[in-house]
Amino acid sequence: MDSVIIFDTTLRDGEQAPGAAMTIPEKVEIAHQLARLGVDVIEAGFPISSPAQFEAVRRIVAEVKGPTICALARAKSGDIEAAGKALEGGKNTRIHTFIATSDIHLNAKFADPRYGDTLEEKRVTIMKMAVDAVVQAKKFTSDIEFSAEDAGRTDTAYLCEVVQAVIDAGATTINLPDTTGYCISDEYAELIRSVMNGCTFDPSVIFSTHCHDDLGLAVANSLSGIQAGARQIECTINGIGERAGNAALEEVAMALVVRAPHFGLKTKIVPALLTETSKMVSTFSGFMVQHNKAIVGKNAFSHEAGIHQDGVLKARETYEIMRAEDVGQDTEAIRLGRHSGRHGLFSRMAQIGLNISSAEKDHIYSQFVQLADRKKEINDTDLFNLVEDYTHVKTEPHYKLESFKVSVGTGSEPEAHVKIRDIKKDDLIEKSATGDGPIDALYRAIDHAVNEGHDLVSYSIRSVSEGADAFGEVSVLIGFGGPLFAGKASSTDVIHASAEAYMNALNSLAAHRAEEEAVQFVGTGIMQAFGSGPGE
Ligand code: KIV
Ligand code: ZN
Repeated sequence: MDSVIIFDTTLRDGEQAPGAAMTIPEKVEIAHQLARLGVDVIEAGFPISSPAQFEAVRRIVAEVKGPTICALARAKSGDIEAAGKALEGGKNTRIHTFIATSDIHLNAKFADPRYGDTLEEKRVTIMKMAVDAVVQAKKFTSDIEFSAEDAGRTDTAYLCEVVQAVIDAGATTINLPDTTGYCISDEYAELIRSVMNGCTFDPSVIFSTHCHDDLGLAVANSLSGIQAGARQIECTINGIGERAGNAALEEVAMALVVRAPHFGLKTKIVPALLTETSKMVSTFSGFMVQHNKAIVGKNAFSHEAGIHQDGVLKARETYEIMRAEDVGQDTEAIRLGRHSGRHGLFSRMAQIGLNISSAEKDHIYSQFVQLADRKKEINDTDLFNLVEDYTHVKTEPHYKLESFKVSVGTGSEPEAHVKIRDIKKDDLIEKSATGDGPIDALYRAIDHAVNEGHDLVSYSIRSVSEGADAFGEVSVLIGFGGPLFAGKASSTDVIHASAEAYMNALNSLAAHRAEEEAVQFVGTGIMQAFGSGPGE
């Protein structure tokens, strides 16, 4: 069977989703998991865009063995230098350089007359920039990917000219992104076919799909792309990414397994690791996986209607096209409750991808015992909620909520009082505030204590388990001018969950700032050396 290269861009395009910013240790851990999962290429980041991105790529190159590690760069000299430098010392490395080719992008992003006065002149300039970028990238590695950004809306004749020019300059992978998720599947297949037929190239040159999900067609378009001749699919775990996201890796991979006779194409993906990878990315990015999400959603293999249950009990294949265990979903969860011991707890946690270090086990177990006293049965969601601060345990929180008190009542303004420990300075800060409601008052008191402005971008709450003892899960997004930071927490007390979710987001912000500062020295050196910032 012919093979398809799986190029995972969770750590680059996936992380571009607002609020999905991850810390460097989280990215390294995800990269190790992607290597175990069997992806061929990991796009680890966009080194010129920030010192933390540079450092993440550098660490992944140094620590993660197996897949090719790729770094993104615009078709600009400074970007390519930074990508080359971040990849230095790696065994299999790739530079992925891109430039927009559609008229819409050329007219808007390259309006400056230095790119040309007419569209024709701009097209010539862009083609030259693409070729120069490929030639420069070749100095760092022989594995060069070129992407024609917005290929989905680019004039096909011009696209063929650009692609031929970059192939002649040495590009080894040609990616044709549907950047805006505009294409319908047959159009996208036709695009791949036309460009492949319109260019001459060595059989070692690979054509690649990169589909966004604005019309919900990212996976369908990727599959159409490989039927038309592409042999690489760019995708992300859980489909996270810009706007509506990218093609979901788990869906693409399972379509090729379940419909193997139809496609006749294989990948190296280990399906049994899909669910734990999904959970890891969800935990680290703070992006919940919807229950009905194909392959990795909690309900993807649940049968509720009597007629379905009856059918499945008689013959599984009546309503199932793959088995839950094939993709690492567990239908026969161990029942955990107040009588469960440490062994049962930690083996279940390991099964669902929560590998707790020895140092954390006592703390987690005592949390579990307290919860089991309040809830009859502990399910997998409860376990994830229990270790909600997992990432923060690892990245050492800056602040800890010691206690809070909120008072509400008719005829009086809601008021909150908090005690917060600044762990770095070992300082206990007490502050009070009033607000429009109890949560607003609480968040304002926390802001005073940690000395931050108030920029709550979104707040949501949902019930994540059933019954009177249900857990409320709170998700928040905070701003402060730069990237967004997500926080999630759950508790049977929703005010407490709200406070902890906000603290988690503030801790991510503090960790991000500390990382930026820590790598500032390297970063400053790089920016000075390349004399280039991230502007177009
Ligand atoms: O969607 C897109 O066009 C991209 C490119 C950078 C490949 O993400
Ligand atoms: Zn993209």
